[in-house]
Amino acid sequence: MRQRRSNQGQWSSRLAFVLAATGSAIGLGSIWRFPFAVGEHGGGAFVALYLVAVLLVGFPLMIAEVMLGRRGRRNPITTMTLLSEEEAGHPGWGALGVLGIATGLLILSYYSVISGWTLAHAVQAASAPELGGSAAAARAAFAAFQGDALQLVFWHTAFLGAVAFVVARGVEGGLERAVTFTMPVLLLLLLVLVGWSVTHGDAGRALGYLFGASATQVDASLVMAAFAQAFFTLSIGVGALMAYGAYLPADTRVPSATLTVVVTNVLVSLLAGLTIFPLAFRHGIDPGEGPGLVFNALPLAFEAMPGGRVFGTLFFLLLALAALGSAIALVEPAVAWAIERRGLTRQRAVLAVVGTVWVIGISIALSFNALAEVRFWRGNLFDNLEFLTSEVLLPLSALGIALFSGWVMCRSSSSEELEIGVGSRYALWRAAMRWWVPLVLLATGIAATIAWGTGQA
Ligand code: PHE
Repeated sequence: MRQRRSNQGQWSSRLAFVLAATGSAIGLGSIWRFPFAVGEHGGGAFVALYLVAVLLVGFPLMIAEVMLGRRGRRNPITTMTLLSEEEAGHPGWGALGVLGIATGLLILSYYSVISGWTLAHAVQAASAPELGGSAAAARAAFAAFQGDALQLVFWHTAFLGAVAFVVARGVEGGLERAVTFTMPVLLLLLLVLVGWSVTHGDAGRALGYLFGASATQVDASLVMAAFAQAFFTLSIGVGALMAYGAYLPADTRVPSATLTVVVTNVLVSLLAGLTIFPLAFRHGIDPGEGPGLVFNALPLAFEAMPGGRVFGTLFFLLLALAALGSAIALVEPAVAWAIERRGLTRQRAVLAVVGTVWVIGISIALSFNALAEVRFWRGNLFDNLEFLTSEVLLPLSALGIALFSGWVMCRSSSSEELEIGVGSRYALWRAAMRWWVPLVLLATGIAATIAWGTGQA
């Protein structure tokens, strides 16, 4: 089998890849986005659809994206161009790399703002005045924070600065070290938090809400939202997995390495749900209140628990670190491209890429205060960018990955790269790429577009 080598170095082991991929997957997506998406979409039905989406669509797509990266061993754009040449495909497939990279940078521009909220909450957990157990006080404190443009911009800048610092040090130096130790500690804290929340909050109602039948009508936009959540949390469709796959040692099997990531990620999402909803129901917080949900609910718990200030500070700090692992994965593809194709040094590439994201992020930070009146389509600038990236661009990119690995890439190339032979597991994966993933995505996409167009969603 012919082997290309990556120009950016390689993971030192399979474990390093699993940790980095888990580090990229676990972040705000499972702890911040999952609870508020569940709340906005009314609970049980959304959770069930999300689980199905992860298993039947997300998992095979993840395998595909890592596989493409490992075969190409370049940045996503070059990888796609190269692979399509080898498979005698259309050279235009390079555009899939461009779509992924652009989507990733757009996501990062608001991801960084929300990570800034997390950092600010770490400080606030340590020092903010008491809320007296009142949800209204928590909401007012959060609204005051959101209204403060300078603070939002400051924390956004601080977070992106940290991202730039780590990414500038490269794969072996920065990336690996940053993610290896934070994950286990965060998981532990989350478990403690679940225990507290379940015993002190309204656990019965939360369980019914998360896993019971929900009153929501199941339609195309709900399914689309579940896909969006699955892609977002699994880091699919932005070239991140492709870039990480490119650094994968040749003796590592892609499917088993990705399964670990999927399972951990689903677990963390469900744990986050089990933390937030008992608290929300206990304190009368509306589960559907949107992106502020976690930031409103958690401070109430930290205030009431013994040692809560220390615990809260630690939790938000670790969450910010988890977000850092994700943010790194969001910039790495663009940085790898700028180095390989534009001939920049790593430092300059990081500066250019992160600088661009910083500027877009400022407008997102301002969309909660100075630009709050600028509202169209789905809401403010943040709402629009969030919707555009997760419910339009990520599914498009996922569709491209499925079509390329199922139809353009020939059987021998993908089975060779996946090293799972040509048995039934390979056949299942290939059927996913050729048939059910593209068909389900297309059908949902078309139906959802019609619903959005007619104003029903
Ligand atoms: N999966 C990350 C999260 O859940 C977000 C992310 C998306 C990271 C795409 C990298 C690439 O927070």
